[in-house]
Amino acid sequence: MISNEKTFLDNETWRYFWHPVCTVKELEESDTGRGQLLRVKLLSTDIVVARLENGVVALNNRCPHRSAQLHLGWNKGNCIQCPYHGWMWGEGGKCMGIPAAPDGPIPPNAKATAYDCQEKYGLVWVRLDGSADTEIPGHIVYDDPTFKCVHGPSYDWKTHSARRVENYTDLAHFPFVHPETLGRDGHVTFLTPDIAFRKEGRMRFRYDPPKDARQAMDARGGMSPLAFTDYTINLPFGVTLDLTLQNGNRTVMWMWATPLDNIHCRSFWFACRNSDHDGPDQPHMDMQAVILEEDVDIVESQDPEQIPHPRDEIAVGPDKVSLTYRRLLYELCKAKADGPEAIKTWLNNERDNI
Ligand code: FES
Ligand SMILES: [Fe+2]
Repeated sequence: MISNEKTFLDNETWRYFWHPVCTVKELEESDTGRGQLLRVKLLSTDIVVARLENGVVALNNRCPHRSAQLHLGWNKGNCIQCPYHGWMWGEGGKCMGIPAAPDGPIPPNAKATAYDCQEKYGLVWVRLDGSADTEIPGHIVYDDPTFKCVHGPSYDWKTHSARRVENYTDLAHFPFVHPETLGRDGHVTFLTPDIAFRKEGRMRFRYDPPKDARQAMDARGGMSPLAFTDYTINLPFGVTLDLTLQNGNRTVMWMWATPLDNIHCRSFWFACRNSDHDGPDQPHMDMQAVILEEDVDIVESQDPEQIPHPRDEIAVGPDKVSLTYRRLLYELCKAKADGPEAIKTWLNNERDNI
């Protein structure tokens, strides 16, 4: 067995990026009479997310007074009130009041740790370190009224986020893991496309499935996932699949694998379609649930959970996508070693045929 410590990636790098930590719906449903307060985890950091008067906030889930967990407290509108002695923590972690010392003064170091927090695409995003000035990746159709976007339920897998992204962009496993849904015996799919690197850390390639594989799928009826697909990996852990179906309709699948810690990730996803807006959403989501069920055991069986040093796994040509993705993650981690500015520069360095 290969130790998890031997990954060649620096997991501190992901702190500079925005990651979704919950859906807006999950935050809304967290109100059990104490207001919207939700405990989430990102990169082993315990966080409480709340919707306050001016928007969503994310604080470290530890009260600086006597270390109680803030998610057990109350959302008071302009602050989170600690469940233990009622200290009140507002935007930016500012101490808004101490019930036991109403006349003050508030100690100058009474400040909760606050993280950057934003709402976008029906998700709450958190960034632990803002010094590389990264942005939440754009989405190609979310604001396009000809598309209807529907969120699926988020799900946790015991694997590193990078393994999850590799699985999502891997076509060679279709006939083995998904013989009834995405693939078929005798139609092994190889993916050796030209890959480009675009601004804001986008790794991009297109896939035109071979006709015979496509026909084999179509012959079985239903939705053929072997459609022409434009893939974008938003480094480090986002993927967009822009599928053009045989009838010309488009479906855009979006997924982000948020690192809960180094060996667990939570995937958030939504699907956008430019047809059948009035039809039920569930049939469009059901296929995904079946596919995930087929993938999870195999991906969780990968040992170690983290991507190891290149010498500890073997690759062939058609592993090009995963090899390139690993190389880019490695380059990103190397840039991080030179500081936040270097991350910014690296993300905007465009390249063809990488
Ligand atoms: S521990 Fe939070 S107010 Fe005392
Ligand atoms: Fe799969």
